[in-house]
Amino acid sequence: MNLDKYKLSGSELPISTYPDPVLSKVAEPVTAFNKELEKLAEDMLFTMYHAPGIGLAAPQIGKSIRLFVLDVDYEREVITNSAGKEEVRLSEFHPLVFINPIITGKNGTTTHEEGCLSVPGVYEEVKRNKSIHVKYQNLKGEAQEIEAHDMLAICIQHENDHLDGVVFIERLSNLKKNFYKKKMAKEKLQ
Ligand code: NI
Repeated sequence: MNLDKYKLSGSELPISTYPDPVLSKVAEPVTAFNKELEKLAEDMLFTMYHAPGIGLAAPQIGKSIRLFVLDVDYEREVITNSAGKEEVRLSEFHPLVFINPIITGKNGTTTHEEGCLSVPGVYEEVKRNKSIHVKYQNLKGEAQEIEAHDMLAICIQHENDHLDGVVFIERLSNLKKNFYKKKMAKEKLQ
């Protein structure tokens, strides 16, 4: 048994699904960098690792603020603990928290099949920039910047779209977009 496993802490937050109006709103900047924000980021990471997903933006858990978490490189396993409950454990993880991000540079294009925890069951190719430069703040409110490529760049662009009220199906052709919009609206009614 590997004792090096990371036991996740936090609470699982309910994920809003399309077409919930919160997903179409332009999110507000984060202004208070406090314990409450830290707890929110921790719970969002917990929720993301549980789902599992590689990114989660605050609007997806019903909070219209400019914050997202992501991890494009982790090893996860589900175990049954001594109380008989299922538990998610990570052996390797690289969580990132982006607050008030701004994409300040873009280069090249790439196409990758994307999915979204708010649009369950839909996977489609989306065209994005291959490399981006991003300025953002960390949980302490300190200014950060990162040069991101490939998967990390794609994921940041996908999550950053959520902060602008854009779900990835909006980036598809009109035909596909309308198809999924109708499909999701119908499923929501059932
Ligand atoms: Ni998404």
